[in-house]
Amino acid sequence: MSRDDLLKTNAGIVKAVCEQVAKYSPEAIMIVVSNPLDAMCHVALKASGFPSHRVIGMAGVLDGARMRHFIADAAKVSVKNVQAFVLGGHGDTMVPLMRYATISGIPVDRFLDKATIDAIATRTRNGGIEIVNYLKTGSAYYAPSSSAVEMVDAILNDRKELLPCAVLLNGQYGVKDLFLGVLAKLGKDGVEQIIELELLPEEQANLDKSIAAVKELVTLL
Ligand code: LAC
Repeated sequence: MSRDDLLKTNAGIVKAVCEQVAKYSPEAIMIVVSNPLDAMCHVALKASGFPSHRVIGMAGVLDGARMRHFIADAAKVSVKNVQAFVLGGHGDTMVPLMRYATISGIPVDRFLDKATIDAIATRTRNGGIEIVNYLKTGSAYYAPSSSAVEMVDAILNDRKELLPCAVLLNGQYGVKDLFLGVLAKLGKDGVEQIIELELLPEEQANLDKSIAAVKELVTLL
């Protein structure tokens, strides 16, 4: 079963839960983790009636963690030295931004050849199914939960931390009113700033594919 197969079932669950959240915790900041993630953020926003800065999807922190691990493993360095993140939907069209990936601030292409970098991008996109194949029943739970904890920590402690999250875009990357994984500043108010990056034509084209995939899913809601 793919993340997208969960759309209708999970939309009903997320709607019901978010209506209750809004009723009993009207000032909450919601972190959505249900798949298909980007579409479920739309359900959560509509069901809760919350302002968009208080509805945030957890996906990019998870995908970025996988990407950082794969880079550290290939470069034989500590994962603590690796900065890396993805843009786009939490699915096959996600865009691991390898050009922005660094090891202690040094671009990864100083450590890894193109074939290895491309393989890491592919493995990052397939990180979820890789775990499902290992587990046979169910999907990842440890890394997603620790990723959500990192987001909660940034909000609760007002860290102003830049993290890749699914947020409602209002014009960034040419997109309005669509949840998409981008770099965002998380603090006490939830999403406090959306960081829009300069993208090369190929990166933008890949992001456009992901935008189209998320839009298609949202229209099925
Ligand atoms: C994954 C699920 C949480 O990527 O979408 O493992």
